[in-house]
Amino acid sequence: MRILVTGHQGYIGSVMTRYLAAQGHDVVGLDTAFFGDCVFGRNDDRTPAINKDVRDVTADDLRGFDAVVHLAALANDPLGDLNPDWTYDINHRASVRLAQAAKAAGVERFVFSSSCSMYGAPGWPMGTSRRSTCATAAPTASPRICGPTSSSTT
Ligand SMILES: NC(=O)c1ccc[n+]([C@@H]2O[C@H](COP(=O)([O-])OP(=O)(O)OC[C@H]3O[C@@H](n4cnc5c(N)ncnc54)[C@H](O)[C@@H]3O)[C@@H](O)[C@H]2O)c1
Repeated sequence: MRILVTGHQGYIGSVMTRYLAAQGHDVVGLDTAFFGDCVFGRNDDRTPAINKDVRDVTADDLRGFDAVVHLAALANDPLGDLNPDWTYDINHRASVRLAQAAKAAGVERFVFSSSCSMYGAPGWPMGTSRRSTCATAAPTASPRICGPTSSSTT
């Protein structure tokens, strides 16, 4: 399969691209390289890559792929707290647009990474409602739980 991995330079993506390539897939990465200067050790990744922000991806970028694995995100809590609206913009709004663009481009599979943060934090009462989860979940997690109108709750 021809697979586009967004966020392919990250912690998970940098392993996943090699794993998928080793399985015989034709893998292309897409990343802004937000942390391009901060790699540990050797960076010998030769994955063909598109240097682009997921917020700018269109259906034209996705045509010809069989699958999109969507890992690009602001994925840690301190970064999410810095400006929650940036996090909503990338983790929620851009992810929805990317999925819609993938569908429009005829991509048959779309894998969206989740996060255990969606299930809350230790000490949260059992049965915490979706509404209260939206209000209290970390900005990196709540965009995956809540709709766009709830962005003001975090
Ligand atoms: N690492 C974990 O233990 C873990 C656990 C559960 C879920 N996840 C989820 O898996 C996904 C990947 O996590 P990770 O740990 O590899 O994150 P990471 O921060 O290491 O990598 C994210 C990558 O996405 C890129 N990126 C961020 N915003 C972008 C944008 N707007 N356009 C294009 N590229 C952009 C960054 O440059 C980075 O290379 C995230 O959605 C994260 O929430 C991670």
